Amino acid sequence: MATGQIAAIVLAAGQGTRMKSSLHKVLHPVGGRPMINHLLHTLQSINPARTLIVIGALGHQLQDALSGVSFATQNEQLGTGHAVQCALPALDDFDGDLLVLYGDVPFVSDATMQRMIATRDATENCGLVVLGFHTTDPAAYGRLVTNADGSLERIVEFKDASAEERAITLCNSGMMLIAGQHARRWLAQLTNNNVAGEYYLTDLVEIVRKDGHAASVVETDETELMGVNSRAELAAAETIFQQQARAQAMADGATLVAPETVFFSHDTRLGKDVTVEPNVVFGPGVVVEDGVTIKSFSHLDGAIVRAGASVGPYARLRPAADIGAGAKVGNFVEIKKATLAEGVKVSHLTYLGDATIGAGANIGAGTITCNYDGFLKYQTIIGAGAFIGSNSALVAPVTIGDGAIVGAGSVITKNVDADALVVSRARQRQIDGYAAGFRDEKQAEKTAKAQEKSQTKEKTKD
Ligand code: UD1
Ligand code: CA
Repeated sequence: MATGQIAAIVLAAGQGTRMKSSLHKVLHPVGGRPMINHLLHTLQSINPARTLIVIGALGHQLQDALSGVSFATQNEQLGTGHAVQCALPALDDFDGDLLVLYGDVPFVSDATMQRMIATRDATENCGLVVLGFHTTDPAAYGRLVTNADGSLERIVEFKDASAEERAITLCNSGMMLIAGQHARRWLAQLTNNNVAGEYYLTDLVEIVRKDGHAASVVETDETELMGVNSRAELAAAETIFQQQARAQAMADGATLVAPETVFFSHDTRLGKDVTVEPNVVFGPGVVVEDGVTIKSFSHLDGAIVRAGASVGPYARLRPAADIGAGAKVGNFVEIKKATLAEGVKVSHLTYLGDATIGAGANIGAGTITCNYDGFLKYQTIIGAGAFIGSNSALVAPVTIGDGAIVGAGSVITKNVDADALVVSRARQRQIDGYAAGFRDEKQAEKTAKAQEKSQTKEKTKD
């Protein structure tokens, strides 16, 4: 095999029956991203000339969800060899090597793919490089039968294997690199003459060797090759993803007080000296800058938290929440599509949506931006240094000027000028002694009622 271009062929035509889902198996998310996108993302670093996905049932979902890739259809699932054959017409004008991957094996690393390519380059007359792994529980995997020199002699499927062959613990991941020059000729020789009646891609090993070419094995760790066939395996994949994300966050300089309770997305970015308290969830698209503290039970999604800010406990940051440097977002505060400038304090029980808050503003407990009238959304602008009293309702669109004070309990429907005090609620009135008089009157009424009741009882006894 000469070093050249690579076409990645991702097999995803299987039914995924065990998922019991109306969503295509490879679109189920791991770390907040469809599992096939993990693989496609990794593929970018080996820069294949083509990426072709072999689809069958529910294939239209993949066509809708994925961009920058091509598709080939396998109408009947006649086996992994047949699936690769189905990809060939779309590669008519391509003579580079073929890298076969599985859409439901999301974690195979670029380093492993590079090792497969390097092995192909280093092996004389190399026709095939198969990715294998050792496991203590080889179950129904195909077994790799190797020669004394470590090269690959053949792959035997579990169903077709003898007891002796089943005792082999070196297994077939299914992924392989095929010399492009000869691939079509070799693939055409596959038959379905086996226990399953399928066209086995694994039969290529013997075909390649008979043709005078070498077949090699590259081994990698079992966890990298974890496949997802069921919801339980999806959860196991999520666990692997989270363990890696936590380790990475800590390696990058974040403190996770209880790492096993923090959940990341594939694109979560944490700066240095970030502290994440227990039970925090990062949805997709979150950026946390240096020196931030995220306190317990907070949920962040599509938000940026700038340097030195503090969020939570029990805070909810929704998409396009932008929390300024040194700002404080306290308990039971929800923020959506709102920009908080430096040093803003919004400490308790508040909803800020479709809003811009100026530097150093203080938002009192229970403040609500009323951003929605049931039809459209409107903006609230709060100036720098403004003070919003507790339990205020700001009915958007509305602007509160810099340095203005809004009295507690106000319902603000009109713009407020800079440095003004605005109070929008009934004026307070005091009636001296009223409460004491009220109590005397009511006590007398109650006593009279009780007496009346006991007299009627006496009468009925007589
Ligand atoms: C295959 C290998 C086996 C290996 C195992 C690893 C063959 C013959 N066997 O097993 O040695 O240990 O993978 O998991 O290759 N697919 C299609 N079209 C088909 C059949 C499969 O697209 O007609 C896709 C599936 O969607 C899946 C992948 O190929 O992504 C593997 O299919 P699966 O049926 O799980 O593999 P096996 O044949 O059991
Ligand atoms: Ca299988």
